[in-house]
Formats: sequence, structure tokens, C-alpha cells
Amino acid sequence: MSVKVNSIGLKGLEGYLVQVEVQVMEGVESVVIVGLPDTSVKESRERVLAAMHTMGHPLADKKVIVNLSPAEQKKNGPLFDLAIALGVLKSGGFVSVKLPSDAAFIGALSLDGSIVPVQGMLSAILAAKRLTLKTLYLPYDPNIPEVELDGFHLVYVSSIQDVLDHLSGSQPFSFHRPSKILEDHEIRYERDFQQIIGHKFAKRTLEVAAAGFHHVMMDGPPGCGKSLLAETFTSILPPLSKEAQLEKVSLYQLADASNESPFLPPFRSPHHSSSAVSIIGGGSNPKPGEVSLAHRGVLFLDELAEFTKKTLDMLRQPLENGKVTISRAHSTVTYPAKFLFIGEGSMGTVLVLPIEQEAKVGEVGIAVGRTGTVPGFHLKLKNCHSASSTSLIYAVSYSTIFFCSILRYCC
Ligand SMILES: Nc1ncnc2c1ncn2[C@@H]1O[C@H](COP(=O)(O)OP(=O)(O)OP(=O)(O)O)[C@@H](O)[C@H]1O
Ligand SMILES: [Mg+2]
Repeated sequence: MSVKVNSIGLKGLEGYLVQVEVQVMEGVESVVIVGLPDTSVKESRERVLAAMHTMGHPLADKKVIVNLSPAEQKKNGPLFDLAIALGVLKSGGFVSVKLPSDAAFIGALSLDGSIVPVQGMLSAILAAKRLTLKTLYLPYDPNIPEVELDGFHLVYVSSIQDVLDHLSGSQPFSFHRPSKILEDHEIRYERDFQQIIGHKFAKRTLEVAAAGFHHVMMDGPPGCGKSLLAETFTSILPPLSKEAQLEKVSLYQLADASNESPFLPPFRSPHHSSSAVSIIGGGSNPKPGEVSLAHRGVLFLDELAEFTKKTLDMLRQPLENGKVTISRAHSTVTYPAKFLFIGEGSMGTVLVLPIEQEAKVGEVGIAVGRTGTVPGFHLKLKNCHSASSTSLIYAVSYSTIFFCSILRYCC
């Protein structure tokens, strides 16, 4: 008898319903998974076999066929393990519990039958809710922020036995408290704008840039505080809204990147030796890159001149559209990438930017895009602490129609 179990697949940030069909037959011990599984899905065969053995249901003399539907969609990640194991238990006649059609199951199996968190669980939760399923069984992950449930149930399970106990009614719902949402006054910034000494006009310009979400290009002599200004910039951006926090955590989970605090706007500063793929995103199963990890925050490129022309040119799409689309043989995914760009380099670096051919240093600043559709500032700093030098800061707001303002300050 074949059994259908619901699970959630991920395509970029988007989740979709996957029906895991399992049929257990008499035959030589084997597990065949069809439905365009990638290597991590195929490996669930060994995990399921080991977990069944541990639970006392060895699959000797059993042939198991698993079909992941929709068949034309490439499946990736180990999050189907739990659904496959439940299908095997039910189809093989090892358990008699009813697998509800309005519930879905996600989680990776470890060899002893326990269930462990997987990448992209927050995206899966949001997808299950959107698909109007009633219940999602999943392993507990403390990094997932609070989600408005509105009648949708999350059942946190730590083993296959937990799921069976819950389905048979012998164990009530087990809700873990979600991680605490911090209030604004509890937020601590590692690097604060207040730490900057002097640079009155640079700070003022950055405040205006923060208010209008304008890009900034800085240059000046070594040690004058350019990196410091950029690194402290996120402390003057407002904390992320709940919706933005969920988006940030989803992106960080998919990219498997560490995320200190979901409520702070992200600050990403990839090294100039980073590959174009790590900055834009990609891979055979496309993952978010630095531009998406900086979504709703700051992407800071230090030593801009050292980045390759190819990398800088690839920044055009996200800078102009606020998103990046990555196409691979089996999938095309779009990730959000609306970030505030801060570039740092010595005099003339701006001209290296291929996207900025019409701009002149000190006049137009970072005019992103050949058509100049994105406003931005150009900060030109000199060391404020040196008595002999004068600080010059050009702040230029640029648009397709006219130059809004050209400010020149001396201190
Ligand atoms: N105005 C300032 N207030 C406080 N600290 C400062 C200031 N300017 C520079 N510093 C300190 O001086 C050091 C060098 O500054 P920073 O790295 O920001 O300079 P930079 O302009 O980025 O130099 P480079 O061109 O070499 O990258 C840092 O430790 C920074 O904290
Ligand atoms: Mg620097």
C-alpha cells in the first residue's frame, strides 16, 4: 500500500508543498528515491534505514520506493527525512497512526531516530502557513524568531517516536517558547556612531544618507576613519520590523551564515578577494550571497579598487532593482538585495567602478548605474586630526532629473 505524507520543499526563499509517496514492497533490501533528488536528499536513504533499524523495524527483505512530487522540481536539502521515515513506517505496516492530510513534516534524521534542525526552516514555516496547512511538525530551533500563527500549529518534536506519540494522541502539543524579542532600548551595538570623534560633517552626511537610504562613496588618506564611519553606520539605522527580521533570518539560514541579532540591520563587508559568486549568490543550488545578506542593511566594500571588474559589474542588477536573480540548469531563484552601498577607496577609485562611467570624483560621487538612477553621496575626507590639512566633504545627491544639492564643507 502506498502512503502520502506532506512535506515542504524550498526554492530559494519560497517554500512549496512536496508530497512524499512511499511504497514498501517485498524484495531485496533497498530504498530508491525518485523525483529529482539532489545528493543530500538521496543520502536520506541511509539515514532512514539506520533510524528504522534503531527503532526496531529493520527493512530486511523490503524494497522501498519514495516518490517526491512535483516530479519536475529539483529537490534539495535533508528536510524530507522525517516525512520519508513516517511514510516507510506506515506503508510497511509498522504503525497504525493516521497521517493527517492537513499536516506537513520537516526535519533531518540522525541515525538514532532523533530529528535535527535543517537549513531554511523559517522559510518552510512561512510556506506551510501560506499553503493553509493546519499543523507543521518540525525540530525546535532557538534561532527562529516568533511567527504570527493565527490558528496554524507548530509541533516541535525531537524524535520519530515524539511524532507517533503526538499523532496517536498520547502526547499533547509541545510548544517551546520562541526566542525573546528585544525592545529597542535593550539593543546594544558593538560599534556605535557615538564613538566617532570629530568628522562633524561626515557624520551629518551619513545621517542624511541613512534617512534617505542613499549610497555612499568615501575616500581619503589612510587612518582618517573611513572604515569606522562605515562600520558604525548601521547603529543610526532603525531596528528591523518584524517582517524584515523574518526575512533576514530566512536569508541567513539559507546561506548558513551566522546571524548575531535578527533585529539589527545587517552589516556585511566581504573581503576584496571574495569570489563573485559569494558576493552575488549562486552555486548549483543557488544560495544567497553577500548582497542578499546585506538586504535592508549595509554592504561595505573596503578597498573598492581591489575588487574585480566582473564583481563590481554584477552589483548593477541588485543596486538598480533591489533583488538578484540567479539562474542555474535546474532552478532560477530570486533573492531580495536592497542594501545601502558604502564604498571605500583612495582618490580615483570611484572611476574604477564600471557602473559609474559618467561620474567624476568630487562632482557626482557614486552615480550608480549608467543611467544614474540611484541617488548617492560622495564623501571625500581628509584627516581631521592633522592641523595642516583641511577636511573636505563633498556630499552630492544625484538623480536622473537634476542634482538635488551640492554641498561643500570645510573644517
Ligand atoms: N574620528 C575618529 N574617531 C575615533 N576613532 C578614529 C577616528 N578616525 C580614526 N579612528 C581610529 O583609527 C583607526 C583607523 O581608522 P580606520 O580604519 O577607520 O581608517 P581608514 O580611513 O579606513 O583607513 P584606511 O584607508 O587605511 O582603510 C581605527 O582604529 C579607528 O577606530
Ligand atoms: Mg579602511
